Amino acid sequence: MNKKFYVANWKTYLSHTQAITFCKNHAQELEQLTKNASLIMCPSFTELATIKPLLKNISLGAQNCSSFEAGAHTGDVTAQTLQELCVQYCIIGHSECRKQYHETSQDVAQKALRLLEVGITPILCVSDEHENELKPVFEVLTKSTHLIIAYEPIWAIGTGKTPTNQAIESTLNAIKAQFQTKAPQVTATLLYGGSVAPETIQELKKITTLDGFLIGKASTDFQKLKNIVE
Ligand code: PGA
Repeated sequence: MNKKFYVANWKTYLSHTQAITFCKNHAQELEQLTKNASLIMCPSFTELATIKPLLKNISLGAQNCSSFEAGAHTGDVTAQTLQELCVQYCIIGHSECRKQYHETSQDVAQKALRLLEVGITPILCVSDEHENELKPVFEVLTKSTHLIIAYEPIWAIGTGKTPTNQAIESTLNAIKAQFQTKAPQVTATLLYGGSVAPETIQELKKITTLDGFLIGKASTDFQKLKNIVE
């Protein structure tokens, strides 16, 4: 049986010191969790290098990356830099970035390209607008490749509310169908995100077509993360 993915998207909930303390305090317990699960920890850029040696059997993920190659892009972090920091996965197209930084689906497609060029797997977030959000991605991904798609209904993020399993399954089927017709060369692993917590996980785990979960706030509390994974 394939292990399910659990992506911890820490956003900016933890400060530099808090993020490092989390990993130091729970290093062994985190490793235990990887017996039955694939864990991907996504701290801020500034903790990537420090956290890497603290995590055993756990993959390192970034929360964003530049859509550009190296150049005059103040404040950006390139995919190449992430790759040199041993980052294996990178979240792109998160609804918070689309809204707060006016990131377009064309930008997200370019980010996917930059990441794939250096061998990092994109964790591409889509909402109920997945049909439009994925279009520019399909235009640039011409080669056979692997993507992780995280379906996150915007209204479910940080609200404690989740869609019904039936609604999630129907969106996952629509996303799968979109890939089959528009980009059969791309293999997509499917995650759900939005208020994944100890209170919601039992029901969500009944969705057999899901390959895993993207967890925001609850992943910054070790006990909650453990409850979700176990
Ligand atoms: P949440 O966030 O688990 O805090 O709802 C999920 C996400 O935005 O990735």
